[in-house]
Amino acid sequence: MKEPSSFEKRELIVSQDGSSSLYLPGLDETYHNRRGALTESEFIFIEKGLKNKALESSGSAPIRVLEVGMGTGLNVLLSKRFADSTSKLVEMVTLEPYPLTPSEWEALNYGELLNMREEFNALHKASWEKAIELSPFFTITKLKTRLETLNGYQNAFDVIYMDAFAPSRQSEIWSKDNLTILFNSLRDGGILVTYCAQGQFKRDLKEVGFMTEHPSGPLGKKEMTIARKEA
Ligand SMILES: C[S@@+](CC[C@H](N)C(=O)[O-])C[C@H]1O[C@@H](n2cnc3c(N)ncnc32)[C@H](O)[C@@H]1O
Repeated sequence: MKEPSSFEKRELIVSQDGSSSLYLPGLDETYHNRRGALTESEFIFIEKGLKNKALESSGSAPIRVLEVGMGTGLNVLLSKRFADSTSKLVEMVTLEPYPLTPSEWEALNYGELLNMREEFNALHKASWEKAIELSPFFTITKLKTRLETLNGYQNAFDVIYMDAFAPSRQSEIWSKDNLTILFNSLRDGGILVTYCAQGQFKRDLKEVGFMTEHPSGPLGKKEMTIARKEA
């Protein structure tokens, strides 16, 4: 396993759609696609994840979302925007063992790009380890927890955003044991979405019990993954 220091020395970068991201020299890895952080997150996690699930759901029950790797908070911010703009209740839990420092998140430009600066600040300032209502439609629980040690969430989520670093950089987080934790944490009919469509990962998803599909990804990417726990 990589040492925590590999995850904690970060450099600000600007991706090609103008949205910022971070680069980790210790892993030689970025937090998002260099061709467009905002474009990638909006397509994979909101369009194919949260919105996709919201279209399937009826009634007023909250949609429960788990994110692996809160990082910059971009996916949380986009999820809040979706909840508020559609008046859908969303309850999100996000895992992050290596949170950004205030100077790191203050330098990111998502607040300006989305006209959500105050909301972005509130998200990063929100206490850890407890549910915080950021709006009448959106609640966030930030956990300084590693996926490997997540417990207490069986049949709990409708959508999982699997947004860890790539298997070539952090192979252990994509292990079959971790995929089993994620499978068990999903409700029947729930979906896991990720930018990753690597061969071993696809095979492991099937072995763990997921039904998988691999539509085209954003920014010219040939495939992404939507994995479903069948009802
Ligand atoms: C690709 S980045 C996340 C991008 C993030 N969703 C965003 O929008 O900025 C991967 C994240 O996973 C976190 N991470 C690393 N090891 C982890 C683990 N064992 N469990 C959960 N998260 C982990 C990293 O610190 C990093 O923030």
